[in-house]
This record gives sequence, structure tokens and C-alpha cells, in this order.
Amino acid sequence: MLELNGKHIIVGVTAGIAAYKTATLVRMLVKNGADVRVLMTPASKHLITPLTMATLSKHPVLTEFYNPENGEWNNHVRMSLWADLFIIAPATANTLAKMAAGIADNLLLTVCLSARCPVMAAPAMDADMWQHPATQENIQTLRKRGVYIIDPACGELASGLDGQGRMEEPERIAEAAAQCLRKKKTVSFKRVLVTAGPTHETIDPVRFIGNHSSGKMGYALAEALAQRGVQVILVSGPTGLTPLHAGIERVCVTNAHEMYEATMHYFSETDGAILCAAVADYTPVAPAAKKIKRTAAPLVLELRPTIDIAAALGQQRRDDQFLVGFALETDNERANAQKKLQTKKMDFIVLNSLNDEGAGFGTDTNKITILDSRGGLYEYPLQNKQSIAEIIIDTLEKNITRIKS
Ligand code: PMT
Repeated sequence: MLELNGKHIIVGVTAGIAAYKTATLVRMLVKNGADVRVLMTPASKHLITPLTMATLSKHPVLTEFYNPENGEWNNHVRMSLWADLFIIAPATANTLAKMAAGIADNLLLTVCLSARCPVMAAPAMDADMWQHPATQENIQTLRKRGVYIIDPACGELASGLDGQGRMEEPERIAEAAAQCLRKKKTVSFKRVLVTAGPTHETIDPVRFIGNHSSGKMGYALAEALAQRGVQVILVSGPTGLTPLHAGIERVCVTNAHEMYEATMHYFSETDGAILCAAVADYTPVAPAAKKIKRTAAPLVLELRPTIDIAAALGQQRRDDQFLVGFALETDNERANAQKKLQTKKMDFIVLNSLNDEGAGFGTDTNKITILDSRGGLYEYPLQNKQSIAEIIIDTLEKNITRIKS
């Protein structure tokens, strides 16, 4: 039995041959206790009848914005507020493209655009359409926005070709729905400061000293915290990323000094900080006001150390605040991380090494070892930065009371 009792689920049907499997999905959701409403695009009615879906869901199926017989309006906002989950199955390439572009030219897409609940899509199409860069870019866009994509399976397709494009089986979609609706983990802290990304230290109006941080690790931490109900202050260096969750307040900074000022400003009103940013250790003493001209002579730049933000927070933090830092190392990894943990007065330090393939800067994955101030050591294999973020938060939550006692 799946945990769906009393859950409000909208099932959206678009015009794919796989729509016949959606009848089984609806039946399964209802049998497991969910209250299901079905929305169909006009074209999908050629593939499965509204009568089948209405009978299985025990409610009339909606397709149009209003009932032409009596003028009754199908309120898309009310529908999207009602739902705990919106599953689009099958999701055609056309509907996915419209979702990515924010188009709302039928009832299903309009409900999707106003949805506050999680949206899940189970694509179904021919393999070439699935592989097409346009579809793949749309899938990336939707994933980044938090849409759960249930990847299509490989096998024989309606076109007679073989490849990836078959809609996942209804059992798997129903399981994914139950998993998505399962109560999210919570944490004991309410407000957390996270730093992310690189800093840019100005050399002249066109050049800076930077590093390879993309911000992915820090943003993953901010999203994971926000999903657990934490209010996050995300102090971010220059990245191409945008936070998705409404619980994240982003403060954009450019250089190490601005990052120092922003963290100092917000730290006292938080339960603690996770310092994931790759902050410059040195900055030019005298940035040039005009572009430095190229000459044949070597150029010497005088640099001074930046303020160590982690050390400053370590000095001023209250007993009830936690401090988690990162260490990016290339050699003598554990010894260097241990030293930073102690000198910067942190509770935990997350070590990632550039010697591990897939770890550190720019990648979607990371491989970490967490050290705590009581000598504890926790090692984790390579996994995506979202899972790493969850692990860091779980480790912090589980051990912080013991470490502080
Ligand atoms: O952004 P991504 O591409 O996803 O990459 C993630 C990451 C590799 C940047 C991240 O996982 C990471 O390791 N961040 C810390 C990088 C770093 O600067 O490490 P460090 O060993 O030089 O610094 C140690 C700690 O001191 C860090 O918590 C850092 O934020 C902090 N620090 C450093 C210098 C400084 N002036 N002030 C600081 O607070």
C-alpha cells in the first residue's frame, strides 16, 4: 500500500499513445487512497476517452476553461491550490516545451503554470524526439525549476523503433508520487547563513582575480535547507545561478570584502553559518582606475591578504551558533582541513579534494569527508551535490548537540 491516503492529486493527460497506461495510474492512485482529478488536453481525447478517466477517478474530467453548455468557469487557480501534487503522464515533447516556455494555451498548462504544489512529468515520445537538443534543453530547464522528471524507459516504441521514450510504468510513477509526498525531513535550526560561489578581486576595470567556483555546492545547500523549512540568507559571489526556493534570501556580492561585510551583517541573527564560498585569499593592494596597458615588461601586482571571514565568525559567534566551513585541498588534505577546523574555531569542516575525480569546482558531483571538532570523521562516496548537501545537513543535525556539550 502506498502512503497516499487523503492526498489531492491532479493527473494531467497529454496526447501520447502511452495515455492508455494513465488509466492504470489513476486507478492505482485512487486505490491507494488519493483523491484524483484528471485534466486532459483536447488532443489527448483522441487517445483515451474522458469517460474512462472520469469513471476511474470518480470525478468529471476537465479539458476546457469553461463549460460551453452553462458557461461555468473551471477555475485553474483554485484547482492548483487544491492539489498536493500534479502529475503529467504522458508528457509529450510539445507540452514539455510549452511548460519550459511558460505557455498556458490550454487548461492543463494553465493549472501547471499556477501550481504551488510539486509538479511531476513522465515524458513519452519517440526516441529521436527525446534525444533532440530542444527537448533535452527543455528538460534541463524544467529540472532546474524543480519539476520532477521521471525519465522515460528504453524499449519498443509506438513508432516501431527501439530506444528511450517509453513512458515509465504506472507502478513506478505511483511510487515516485508517494515518495514525493512523503513528509520532508526537518531540522532544529530556523535561520542559516550560507556563502556560495567565487569572489572577484578587481585588478583594473576589465580584469579580476577569481577562481573556478560555480556556486553549485553552496546553492544546493541553500535549496536543501529551504526545503526543510529553514530561512536561508545566501551570500553569493558572482555565479550564473538563481535560487529557486522562496525561503532563500539572496545577497549578491562581488569581492571578499563585500562577502565579509554581508556575512557580518547577517550572522548574529542566524542559528549558524555554512561557509561554502571559495573566497580569495589575496586582493590587489591598489586596483587601477583605468585599464592597465600591455607593455613588453613583466607586470608585478602587489597583493594583500583578504580578511578571513570564517576566522572572524569563529571569533564572534555565540555558544548557541554553529559554524561549518569547507576545505578545498590539493595535498596533505586531512591535516590541512584539521588545521583550518581548529584555527577558524569551526564545529565541522567539509573536506573536498581536487585529487578526486568529479569532486570540487564546477562539477555536478562531489566527494567529501566531514571532520568535527571532537575528532569525529565521516567519509562519503562521490554523489551529486544535492545528495551531498542533504548529507552535510543530516550530519550537522545529528551531531551538533553532542559536539557543543
Ligand atoms: O561552487 P562549486 O563549483 O560547486 O565548488 C564547490 C567548492 C569547491 C567551491 C566548495 O565545495 C568548497 O570547497 N568551498 C571552499 C573553497 C575554499 O576556499 O576553501 P579554503 O580551504 O581555501 O577555505 C577554507 C574555509 O575558509 C572555507 O569555508 C572558506 O569559505 C573560508 N574562507 C577562506 C578565505 C577567506 N578569506 N575567508 C574565508 O572565510
